[in-house]
Amino acid sequence: MFNKDVYIERRSKLRNEIKSGIALFLGNVESPFNYPANTYHFRQDSHFLYFFGLKNPGFAGVIDFDNNKEYVFGNDFDIDDIIWMGVQPKVKDLAKKAGIDNSRPYTELSGFISEVVNNGRKVHFLPPYRGETKIELSSLLDLPVSELDSNVSVELIKAVVKLKEIKDKYEIVEIEKAVDIAYEMHTTSMKMAMPGVIEQKIAGTIEGISLALGGPVSFPIILSQDGQTLHNHNHDNVLEIGRMMVTDGGAETQECYSSDITRTVPVGGKFNKRQAQIYQIVLDANMAAIEAIKPGLKYRDIHFLAAEIIVDGLKGAGLMKGDTKKAVETGAHTLFMPHGLGHMMGMDVHDMEGLGENFVGYDETTKRATEFGNAYLRLGKELKPGFVLTVEPGIYFIPDLIDKFRNENLHTDYINYDVVETYKDFGGIRIEDDILVTETGNRVLGKPIPKTIKEIESIMAEGN
Ligand code: GLY
Ligand code: MN
Repeated sequence: MFNKDVYIERRSKLRNEIKSGIALFLGNVESPFNYPANTYHFRQDSHFLYFFGLKNPGFAGVIDFDNNKEYVFGNDFDIDDIIWMGVQPKVKDLAKKAGIDNSRPYTELSGFISEVVNNGRKVHFLPPYRGETKIELSSLLDLPVSELDSNVSVELIKAVVKLKEIKDKYEIVEIEKAVDIAYEMHTTSMKMAMPGVIEQKIAGTIEGISLALGGPVSFPIILSQDGQTLHNHNHDNVLEIGRMMVTDGGAETQECYSSDITRTVPVGGKFNKRQAQIYQIVLDANMAAIEAIKPGLKYRDIHFLAAEIIVDGLKGAGLMKGDTKKAVETGAHTLFMPHGLGHMMGMDVHDMEGLGENFVGYDETTKRATEFGNAYLRLGKELKPGFVLTVEPGIYFIPDLIDKFRNENLHTDYINYDVVETYKDFGGIRIEDDILVTETGNRVLGKPIPKTIKEIESIMAEGN
């Protein structure tokens, strides 16, 4: 937990954003996976954690904007809890660590909220994403679960995004720790990517590194020589020479800040000519996009810059043709990169995505595209100092997508389908880094993780 002043300041900033009513932040509760007492690893709700700092299950926080008061609701451990889980500080002492003097038993929350509602005051709440939270909110607010979504507070969502999208120095330290753990995960993955190895062995090993050095992985590891499947969570292939292995994985720190890094390596440690050519295009796009990032630019424009580099490169490889800018304007590149260049990152690996991607990644002057591929861009808006985001261009050869585009005669002015057919066995490549937007430009966070062809071949040689 950070010093209490951090949480006091965050709540004070939130109080400046919201005019009246109260904000109710429900923390997460323990959640069973196969029977009640066998629970998933506990992960606190990121918004509760941001404003109240406490990682205890079953807590709630309230900020009263009308009366300038703040509360933590939670139950003290009873003797049974102590026997099984050990001694825990009293809720009033935990609340003090977050700079809050008003603590109440959780059992009083329902009466507290009823009184607020009966007095005609607004209860602001964020979109719930867990079943348990939905049921609890429904009961506290006397609203059917089906009506929660239409009653979330857009005012609170916008205020929370405004605060959380700008990371402070403490958060940057945490995120860099998470990237440094990812360094260990990815360099280990590279050294293990040898023919005959089962992907699961590598995925399990690097998940263990995350747990050993920080906390759980920040999202289920994506690791496969079938990298053409963007979010491939199957790890049952035996690695083969001639394939490329994508590892997209990150860690969470003790304070629950994330990293999200992708590297792609040739199984066995040596790029063949075809692999090197496509890899270098993705690397060029990754590095040019990073180079371009600075405040005032829209991330959507950086996305299209990366797309142009990919088209240029694919033209060089004989896979595309025609005018680069027009190819990107018409969306021909989406056959090869059917996803966005990146997303915000923080406590959530897709930071605040649960509040609604359009609130986080777009603004009044940047509206989300609707056409295939570009619509998947999670972050399009103007960049500000303090944003932390990912840069993750890729090139994929997805046989079903190639067939679909070809059968529909799409972008025939820009795509050499006969050549593309010969790449259907290639797989995919993605290269992802985590970036802080600074006052003048940007900084790649954490210890640099090998990504040039030379660096990758050199570190993989250590695994042989
Ligand atoms: N790392 C997975 C993603 O960004 O979607
Ligand atoms: Mn990512």
